[in-house]
Amino acid sequence: MSDIVTVIAPVNIAVIKYWGKRDEKLILPLNDSVSATLDTSVMCAKTSVCARPDILENEIWLNGVHSSFCNQRLQNCLTEIKAIARNQKSVTDEFLSWNVRICSVNNFPTAAGLASSAAGYACLVAALAKLYKIQSDISKIARMGSGSACRSVYGGFVRWHAGVNPDGSDSIASQVADSSHWKEMRVLILVVADTKKHISSSKGMTCSVETSELLKYRVEHSVPKRVKDICEAIKDRNFSNFAEITMKDSNQFHAICLDTYPPCVYMTDVSHKIVEIVHKYNEINGDVKVAYTFDAGPNACLYLLEKDISDVLSLIRHMFPTSSNEFVKGLDAPETNKTDV
Ligand code: PMV
Repeated sequence: MSDIVTVIAPVNIAVIKYWGKRDEKLILPLNDSVSATLDTSVMCAKTSVCARPDILENEIWLNGVHSSFCNQRLQNCLTEIKAIARNQKSVTDEFLSWNVRICSVNNFPTAAGLASSAAGYACLVAALAKLYKIQSDISKIARMGSGSACRSVYGGFVRWHAGVNPDGSDSIASQVADSSHWKEMRVLILVVADTKKHISSSKGMTCSVETSELLKYRVEHSVPKRVKDICEAIKDRNFSNFAEITMKDSNQFHAICLDTYPPCVYMTDVSHKIVEIVHKYNEINGDVKVAYTFDAGPNACLYLLEKDISDVLSLIRHMFPTSSNEFVKGLDAPETNKTDV
């Protein structure tokens, strides 16, 4: 019988978005993406796993609800980890023959465009890797669960290299800078709606690849320069360049969602109001002090520096007086750089 292994993994928020796959099964992206991994103090996934001879079939519990293990991506992650463990002889054959029980909880809205699958799969893969005692680059395996999960394996600022190999061996994440590099950076998350999104990112991006002409332009012309420039902005701690690229990339991503047929509409009137407020605030200050970015949902992630937090929070509370749904986040704790085990 195995001990129970429990792992906590953070959310990451992309500043250069991943949108579109060149291989659906292996989850290989069309373009590189860049994100910041948030600290685990408020938003994280927590997963416990164990393997036992008396578990009759593999089981998964998500936020307390018994869910189906039929999910292909989930099975791919487990199969891959067991294959590595068999190869590395890290556990006995008997242990490998036992079924697993997985219990995972998110302490924030699931599937509401707040990168829950990124934290969830990074956490699951880190927990299974620990259970089966494997030594391997787990970002590649997390990617097989949810593309963006490969970035949650590292702290600080992270780049997912799209790679060129058909087997995905070079489609991995690497750290651009650790979280101690830009200590003043904060992320303010404004929960516009905590309901499940109506079009999953997986479905949305498949439709975009099939129908959006803009997507081809983005992949070939916009993203390569943006990735290079934002990595430089991160290294130089140049907030205004970082912020401008972040907002432009979010806008382009949502333009592609609208260019998809039928369109994927993720942002709401409130999301657009937030965009307007941020631009007005930056204009009044004569400087880019805040950047917004929106994933496949209406919720806003604002990047800003610590010194501007109280000013921006007062503004948000003034504009949306009934709301209390905001979190202030720093970047992931510097000491681990890996999923917090
Ligand atoms: O990893 P997925 O399938 O949840 O897709 C994530 C897509 C975006 O959140 C919109 C962008 C990104 O890079 O995280």
